[in-house]
Amino acid sequence: MRSQFDQPTNRSGLNSIKWDKAGEIYGCSDLIPMWVADMDFPPPQSIIEALVSRAKRGFYGYEAVPSGYLESFAAWLHDRHDWDVPQEWITYSPGVVSGLSLALQTFTQPGDKIVIQPPVYQPFFSMVERNDRQVVENPLIVENGRYTIDFAELERLFQTGARTFIFCSPHNPVGRVWSREELEQLAALIIRYDVLTLTDEIWSDLTLPGHKHFSLAKVSSEVADRCITFMAPSKTFNLAGFYLSNVIIPNEELRRKYKMAKAKLGLAELNTFGAAGAEAAYRTGAQWLDELREYLQGNVDFVLDELAQRIPGIKVIPPEGTYLLWLDCRELPIKHDELNRFFAQKAGVAFNDGAMFGKQGAGFQRMNIACPRSTIAQALKQIEEALSQQ
Ligand SMILES: Cc1ncc(COP(=O)(O)O)c(C=O)c1O
Repeated sequence: MRSQFDQPTNRSGLNSIKWDKAGEIYGCSDLIPMWVADMDFPPPQSIIEALVSRAKRGFYGYEAVPSGYLESFAAWLHDRHDWDVPQEWITYSPGVVSGLSLALQTFTQPGDKIVIQPPVYQPFFSMVERNDRQVVENPLIVENGRYTIDFAELERLFQTGARTFIFCSPHNPVGRVWSREELEQLAALIIRYDVLTLTDEIWSDLTLPGHKHFSLAKVSSEVADRCITFMAPSKTFNLAGFYLSNVIIPNEELRRKYKMAKAKLGLAELNTFGAAGAEAAYRTGAQWLDELREYLQGNVDFVLDELAQRIPGIKVIPPEGTYLLWLDCRELPIKHDELNRFFAQKAGVAFNDGAMFGKQGAGFQRMNIACPRSTIAQALKQIEEALSQQ
């Protein structure tokens, strides 16, 4: 049976960065875009209907945050993440990246050491550096064929003066959904060394079937007191263009300071369409999301099977969450710094170069599989052909 997610993609004329900017970035045309992390699927129909209905009401003047939005997000946290969050803990940011940056400006000083765990989402580096703070790396390690946290090194970094940590959970690009045991171990270090933790949980809803996200702040009230958690409907329902994310701050003093920093910038809370769309998403999107997660798992399985049979030089550790595959291309007969150009210019497929996620990513490419399976099949065919001509 064909899935709703098998429909061909048509994003033409929408100024999509992934589609319309690929030629400029990669220096060639007719690329299959598998880079920027958004999806080639429309959101649930109920979101589109809510937006149309709000648009038809007219009147787009100044608006307070709708109480229905807050209720819908709190109910989502309860239903999907077994997390009971009082509504007063929730505040907003136009995006997770801007929220992380504002938190760095508010709670740290120039020169402070900020721990991140590469290979990791590139703005974790750039936001720290642009704010004149110092990136301190605790690289993930591979143990028993699985990425994990180097707790001994993390403790050493906290012992030697790093007091701020940016945590990616689930982890982009390696696709780990951290286990409760790992989170408990992490929480113990955060509490022992009193580390402010900015926990980026933008991917929390996009675990693959059989994997469940557990919020770090849920481990205990002691760790929650040191956490600022970022979540959003943007990845989950493909709504990044709304520029809306949620910031959960249980600690009253941290929350007061964060809100004051926002007020200093004169930042608005939510925008009319973002609030209407996101409320509809949280109220009505659960079934669509579960169907999406099944489809994404089908895409993961498809890529892993095809690679094993036809392109064994590319290896992938099966992800537990996100719609990103971290392709290990180190066995291919192509130099690391030429890989990304090779895939674009010889195979016509635009991936993110692994090196942008930190030096540990050299020899890797990040592939976005949130697209119809037929697109993936075409991309793999083009890659196989390009490699056969190497
Ligand atoms: C870990 C992570 N954080 C944040 C973002 C982007 O957040 P925003 O668009 O809300 O700034 C992404 C997008 O890929 C991401 O992977």
